[in-house]
Amino acid sequence: MPIQRRANAKSTDNNGIEKKIKRGNAHRQASFWKGPRSFLLVLIAFVACGGAGWLYFGFDSDITETLVRQGEVVQQPRVFKVQCSEDYDSYKRYPGCTPQTCGRAVTDNVVTREEAGMLRRLADRGMALAGSDGGASILDLHSGALSMGKQFVNIYRYFGEQIKEVFSEEDFQLYRAVRARIQGVIAETFGLDPSRMYLTKPTFFSRINSTEAKTTHDEYWHPHIDKVTYGSFDYTSLLYLSDYGSDFGGGRFIFMDTDGNRTVEPRAGRVSFFSSGSENLHRVEKVRWGTRFAITVSFTCDPAHAIADPALP
Ligand SMILES: *[C@@H]1O[C@H](CO)[C@@H](O)[C@H](O)[C@H]1NC(C)=O
Ligand SMILES: *[C@@H]1O[C@H](CO)[C@@H](O)[C@H](O)[C@H]1NC(C)=O
Repeated sequence: MPIQRRANAKSTDNNGIEKKIKRGNAHRQASFWKGPRSFLLVLIAFVACGGAGWLYFGFDSDITETLVRQGEVVQQPRVFKVQCSEDYDSYKRYPGCTPQTCGRAVTDNVVTREEAGMLRRLADRGMALAGSDGGASILDLHSGALSMGKQFVNIYRYFGEQIKEVFSEEDFQLYRAVRARIQGVIAETFGLDPSRMYLTKPTFFSRINSTEAKTTHDEYWHPHIDKVTYGSFDYTSLLYLSDYGSDFGGGRFIFMDTDGNRTVEPRAGRVSFFSSGSENLHRVEKVRWGTRFAITVSFTCDPAHAIADPALP
């Protein structure tokens, strides 16, 4: 999880500011045609609206390009190549796995919307056991870590046998099947040997709504590089479990390139994956309304960092 802290009172204040500006605009519009000052008033209204837009969207409006929209259905992986960073040089190279070509790709053809729905309900049931006080809540089925208030609990220890009333063997089977398919499409796209890629940790469900994070580990929006944050990562994938624009607003995934910010709009069942080095610096836009669910599934080339698929204890 990202670590640095940033002043973040802005978005809460924005509502108030926006309301004031809107009220001001309504006043001005009412007297629009009445006086000789109308040109000046239009100008003021224009500047105020622009200002409100800037205040409201601020940090989050710098999108240069949308790589994939929510409403599209991408059958064959849509691949965007980028030059590999030097991050991999400081690690041992594993033939058939270590990135030779780098990039990002998106496909809607690996996980069905029905499967995404089942996984979202699984996440919902798990998170209902606890959840963070704000920002992102995470559930890691492998380690059992679940956000609770300002900390985490181990669901397997904390809830013991009762956890079998929340998750079934079928849930875990679905998770494993989906993980294997994602691994397959990453291998195919980057020309790797899937048997030389290993699931690694952390691998987790995330649930994000518009309530402000209360602790730094629940702040999900900071720019970061997965390989720097977690040395073991070589490929990161995200499986979205809800729809941008109808389940939630904001919350787009943003690749922060030196020449522009490129976004992927989440869609239930959409898999987005990328090489984990600095060539893929990224962040998640703040969620403005609704709830955003996703799963992060990460892979390493180093067998020493391999983890088994999660399983019921
Ligand atoms: C967001 O989720 C938290 C639990 O993580 C909950 O306490 C809060 O009420 C939710 N906020 C909204 C706006 O639904
Ligand atoms: C990308 O967005 C960030 C804010 O999220 C902004 O500071 C930066 O200038 C943008 N980059 C480009 C190249 O537009």
